[in-house]
Amino acid sequence: MIYLDQAASSHPKPPEVGEAMLYALNEIGANPGRGSHKLANEASSIISKTRETASRIFGCSDPKKVLFYQNATAALNQAIKGLSWYKGDHVIATTFEHNSIRRPLESIKKQYGVSVTYISWSGEESDFVHRLWQSIRPETKLIAITHASNVTGAVIPVEKIASIGKQHDTPLLVDASQTAGHKTLHMKEMGFDMMAMPGHKGLLGPQGTGLLIVEGDIDLHPINHGGTGSYSESPDQPSQWPEKLESGTLNTPGIAGLLAAMQSYETRYMGDVPRETILSQKVLKGLKQIEGVTCYGPEVQADRMPIVAFNVLDVPSQEIAMVLDSHYDIAVRSGLHCSPLTHEMLNTADQGVVRASLGLYNTEEETEHFLQAVQEIVDSYRSL
Ligand code: ALA
Repeated sequence: MIYLDQAASSHPKPPEVGEAMLYALNEIGANPGRGSHKLANEASSIISKTRETASRIFGCSDPKKVLFYQNATAALNQAIKGLSWYKGDHVIATTFEHNSIRRPLESIKKQYGVSVTYISWSGEESDFVHRLWQSIRPETKLIAITHASNVTGAVIPVEKIASIGKQHDTPLLVDASQTAGHKTLHMKEMGFDMMAMPGHKGLLGPQGTGLLIVEGDIDLHPINHGGTGSYSESPDQPSQWPEKLESGTLNTPGIAGLLAAMQSYETRYMGDVPRETILSQKVLKGLKQIEGVTCYGPEVQADRMPIVAFNVLDVPSQEIAMVLDSHYDIAVRSGLHCSPLTHEMLNTADQGVVRASLGLYNTEEETEHFLQAVQEIVDSYRSL
């Protein structure tokens, strides 16, 4: 199998990820923060070490503000719904948002009477930044924005947006689902107030893990309440971080795997443009040369993620993905990718797009097979 669905979930993982998970499951097993015996302490130490490692990698000043959730969606829900909302408040997002931001925003819109402006991306950075600037109003309480489109791989100039946010005293929440593990992210230097990410995509950790990282003194109220292993006598949620925002037993085996993945990430040389992005640029160049293929998203040399979006003639994207899977053993994702506004913008709401996304372990040979397969598919549809 040639696996080109890395933007949905990375595969394979560095071997130490699975080893760390098995060790946590088979040799530790105990509940972190819920006992004082040796095994519970060992579990707790994995959790603290993971918070410290994440705060070091992602430029957060306080490891207690690294919060564990089951995925980026849960982290984004906590960040958005954990703020206090009032009728008339306003939020800025983009038309690239995945449903993991759009749906929580639409939910607070209905629940509290908040309004949301979705800014479209024309591919023109200065025009985008200008329109975002113009959309800020005194009631704008949050900018919640994806760092990169999960459909086209376009990268949003988040540092410029952070600087606009700072000038207006408006906090910035960044969804780093497609960039964490591929791009260097330093919250303090880049000016992010909150950042959410999954463990299982570019970081190469396991599914079932996600982080919300908070930099600075933003306060959030918990959207879930329950046991924290501390202050058990109180009926109220503790006010200390991280317990305030993490209820119930953590996913220790998953977090152990995430720690191993982040340790492996720290030792990896990425360069300015990571090798998977360079490889995806070659794929995009190759696709653009095939007559009958339409490519979407940023140009080859633009700041882009290792994601390539395309269609073959007017064939439904699902059909092309099925042919790639069944005839060529190549895995891609088709359809709308949980990002309907992006498809409205691209005019692909009916056809969807075929998305090939690359990761650390994909090879040049695999991408050549992929291009050959697409060429053959186009030829066969043309001969029908
Ligand atoms: N958000 C993931 C994707 O883009 C699942 O495929």
